[in-house]
Amino acid sequence: MNTIILDENNPQDIQTAGKLLHDGGLVVIPTETVYGLAADALNPTAVSKIFEAKGRPNDNPLIVHISDLSQLPALVKEIPESALRLADAFWPGPLTMIFPKSELIPYETSGKLETVAIRFPSNKTALAVINAAGTPLAAPSANLSGKPSPTTFSHVKDDLNGRVDAIINGKDCEVGVESTVITLVGDTIKILRPGGITKHQLESVLGHVEVDSAVVNPVAKGQTVSSPGMKYMHYSPKADITIIDGSPFDFVSFVNQQGDCHALCFEEDTSSLGVPFVSYGTRYDGEKQAQRLFSALHELDEKNAKTVYARIPSKNGVGLAVYNRLVRAAGFQICNPEHCYVIGLTGPSGSGKTTVCQVMNQLGAAIIDCDEVSKSPAVYDKDCLQELQNAFGSTILKDGKLQRKELAKIAFASDDNRKKLNAITHPRILAKVWEMITQAKAVGKKLIVVDAPTLFESGLDEKCARILVVTAKEETRIHRIMQRDNLTFEEAELRIKAQKPPSFYLSRADHIISGDDGSNFAKRLTPIVNGLLQNIDHT
Ligand code: TXA
Ligand code: MG
Repeated sequence: MNTIILDENNPQDIQTAGKLLHDGGLVVIPTETVYGLAADALNPTAVSKIFEAKGRPNDNPLIVHISDLSQLPALVKEIPESALRLADAFWPGPLTMIFPKSELIPYETSGKLETVAIRFPSNKTALAVINAAGTPLAAPSANLSGKPSPTTFSHVKDDLNGRVDAIINGKDCEVGVESTVITLVGDTIKILRPGGITKHQLESVLGHVEVDSAVVNPVAKGQTVSSPGMKYMHYSPKADITIIDGSPFDFVSFVNQQGDCHALCFEEDTSSLGVPFVSYGTRYDGEKQAQRLFSALHELDEKNAKTVYARIPSKNGVGLAVYNRLVRAAGFQICNPEHCYVIGLTGPSGSGKTTVCQVMNQLGAAIIDCDEVSKSPAVYDKDCLQELQNAFGSTILKDGKLQRKELAKIAFASDDNRKKLNAITHPRILAKVWEMITQAKAVGKKLIVVDAPTLFESGLDEKCARILVVTAKEETRIHRIMQRDNLTFEEAELRIKAQKPPSFYLSRADHIISGDDGSNFAKRLTPIVNGLLQNIDHT
């Protein structure tokens, strides 16, 4: 088949695309998530061609794309009130909702189901093409079935040139992973496939939202699934991928020991890797990871990678979508080379970190208190004292002994001084903490909690496989600090204002514990601990 290439900026080309679709043809269109392989959703013959072009099993239903909310009622049997609230909040955008289907939707489109998935995309070209076609468009991702989804025009051309009537040459997709698919059928709202709209965003509109177990777990043979797409091998490049579940440091050490392999890493790793790599964003930027992941998988193919070790993304926020895609690309192969987790515990002061540590200790974890380490004589050896004296003058020493109050006075007088102090002490504290981590591992500890108020600033997060953040309301924290350090309200408030805001910690967290009510920490921490221990057993 001769595939014509259309330009998204040429209005004539948009009309051509619309006409092809109206007449039952196949056209690849850009969307904000991934490129879609579109056909008239109401035309069974046209829809059947999608399955053929992609090599897709015909029981895997398609998403129907609309360009206006007014098109929804004709396509579905009923619209729950919750759907309207979600539409109001997230449409147009990367959210797909499943409804009982109307007679208008052919079984070819719904994969023989009585339900239909509907999405109102935000991409201008996609909307213009739906309008030009004059019909809702069924569109799966425009890749060959099983391959990584396309996020650029060139990905699409590689897979589908010669298999479709036209491809629209558009921009790279800004979200980079497919839409969030939720079901509204039944009482609970459930995420069947995580995507650009996060669980947290959905919950901000609706309250509690569930996540289908197939999102992060493999589907057993014969198990029935809520979303047929979950059961197929997915997003696979040619390489054999294994996810390395450990800290950034563990990842780099492991990969460098392997030799003949490629790394699918984060930007931060690139300078320490001794093997070829492709990076997919940075550790704490889930959006960037989502945008990059499929492109990175394509690049691994271009490099002809055979064995790939991948950095594990967080499952928090849009990270859940990234993890969901990557774990499928890896065929659920995950390895924790250290057979243990170092957990960085941090959060704004007064949140309840100390209590969380105590509970984690009761649950079997080793605890390393960095505040304590930072005061230990082991850190302030002769060299260290000399460097401090060079930096801050001789008043910080008396009879060769460190005058802590004097040091604090000088060091905290300016930002510059504080940086100087950190540059001298942090590497030494880190070395001591690392020694303690190594000891805890040596005695067989599976979970090691490092309590570090400045986990990120000190760079200690590099040694942590997971980040546990404890936060509490500002009011709670102020009162705790007043009591603990015998301060006035104003003094405590000043101290809090000088620190990083809660959002700084939350955006880097794998697990979040609210410290407002310290009474049931054990109940909330136990599932986290059990989950991690189970992972170790399975890898
Ligand atoms: O972002 C996206 O959603 C992209 C762009 C092109 O819009 N489309 C996309 O479509 O990812 P596709 O076909 O690759 O994935 C659709 C997913 C599949 O996992 C499918 O099983 C699920 O949605 N799905 C569709 N209709 C369903 C239904 N009635 N019930 C349960 N799951 C459904
Ligand atoms: Mg797909």
